[in-house]
Amino acid sequence: MKQVHIATFGCQMNDQDSRMMAQILAGYDYEVTDRIDQADLILVNTCSIRQKAEDKTYSLLGRLKRLKTINPRLVIGVGGCVAQQEGEKLLEKVPYLDLVFGTKLIPRLPEMIRGVEEDGIRLARTDLLQPLSYPVLPDSRKSPFPPIKASVTIMQGCNNYCTYCVVPFVRGREESRSSREILSEVKTLVNQGVKEILLLGQNVNSYGQNRPGELTFARLLGHLEEISGLERIRFTTSHPKDLSRELTACFGQLSKLCEHIHLPVQAGSNAILGRMNRRYTREIYLEKIQALRERYPTIAVTSDVIVGFPGETRKDFEQTLELLQAVRFDDLFSFKYSDRPLTRARLFPDQVEAEEKGRRLKKLQAFQKEVTLARNKALEGTVQSVLVDGLSKKSPFEWTGRTRTNKVVNFSGPPELLGRTLPVKIEKATLHSLKGSTQLKAMELEKVHGN
Ligand code: SAH
Ligand code: SF4
Ligand code: F3S
Repeated sequence: MKQVHIATFGCQMNDQDSRMMAQILAGYDYEVTDRIDQADLILVNTCSIRQKAEDKTYSLLGRLKRLKTINPRLVIGVGGCVAQQEGEKLLEKVPYLDLVFGTKLIPRLPEMIRGVEEDGIRLARTDLLQPLSYPVLPDSRKSPFPPIKASVTIMQGCNNYCTYCVVPFVRGREESRSSREILSEVKTLVNQGVKEILLLGQNVNSYGQNRPGELTFARLLGHLEEISGLERIRFTTSHPKDLSRELTACFGQLSKLCEHIHLPVQAGSNAILGRMNRRYTREIYLEKIQALRERYPTIAVTSDVIVGFPGETRKDFEQTLELLQAVRFDDLFSFKYSDRPLTRARLFPDQVEAEEKGRRLKKLQAFQKEVTLARNKALEGTVQSVLVDGLSKKSPFEWTGRTRTNKVVNFSGPPELLGRTLPVKIEKATLHSLKGSTQLKAMELEKVHGN
């Protein structure tokens, strides 16, 4: 068998795509290896969301040159969002690169690789108008442990064209997968032992909109709730403009839907939100958060923020800080604005200087750190329901799992807790995780095991 090494950058979409590459190539006698130096084929699955992400690709490719010199038969391919964005130009930039394949061309990989291997031709294909394709299910027989959590892609692409974002250009138009297919995939996963599913899409709230007669996202959640054996449902990412009342009402109504929502706000100033083409105001955003919290007071809310968008004044930035103060997010991902090819914001005047962006980011992150810690500390002394999903990274004698609000909890306990949901008392909170202890006496643990 030949060996393929797949290096993956970027978001969960790319993780899914890398899985699909491995599955497809397995049918062509390739097995996956972690050892890059032993590979016959190296595939780099790339991300272009910010310049820094794109740079990682070039830096890895730079390191691969040596391997190609040692083994001229080595085939190197680049896929994902940088491949889609650059196309043939990548072959010019990187002379020892053999293959460039766009985000929709993974099913065509075998024939493209054969072309390189047999005919020695260098190839770039980036057609976006290809049919949808998804990874097939993991083969449970291959792993000694039953999978506890699994991601299911429910839609691809994005139609929103936020002015800073490259995703609509590199992932194509929004397309939802049929609910029949999604439900049947989740049922199969649950039969294999999966307890928690994460529904994936760039904008899951607009699920079904491009398929006449399809379920709404909220109704899809309702159908998933009915699947017996499934314990937890999560989803990401939600666009605030499409967060409907119907979806808000699902929290608390559907017992399996975990009380966490990732709702990227991006900025707290209406002028900036307008120029970002986000299509909501800070007031609408705050109302939606309020409605969620009225519905479910302990719901965890996380978000994304960009600082230093073109034209962002100090006052605009202060408004972002004020919004963070008003909402008090459980956690926040924050980024310096980065110019992306093809996007509209790239041409906007009044770019903010790099140093100023850095200062703003530092200030914002220092503020959020305190909030995240305080929110975690507030859980000390409470008992949380935790789904155990593995051994703690820090100590092999500790279990790790997540609360329904998606916070990591480490605790010691007896063996055989993998895949169990149990009450854990939170003893100590830090910025990134919670430390707990099981509340169960030996006899009760028997019961958990007997479930
Ligand atoms: N579809 C998701 C997010 C995709 S990208 C959504 O709409 O929420 C993840 C995050 O990267 C975005 O929420 C945004 O905060 C950030 N991001 C996207 N483009 C960026 C850019 N050009 N510069 C800096 N951050 C960016
Ligand atoms: Fe990018 Fe906006 Fe689409 Fe999210 S909604 S992927 S930020 S264009
Ligand atoms: Fe990056 Fe592409 Fe995902 S740009 S964030 S890998 S959709």
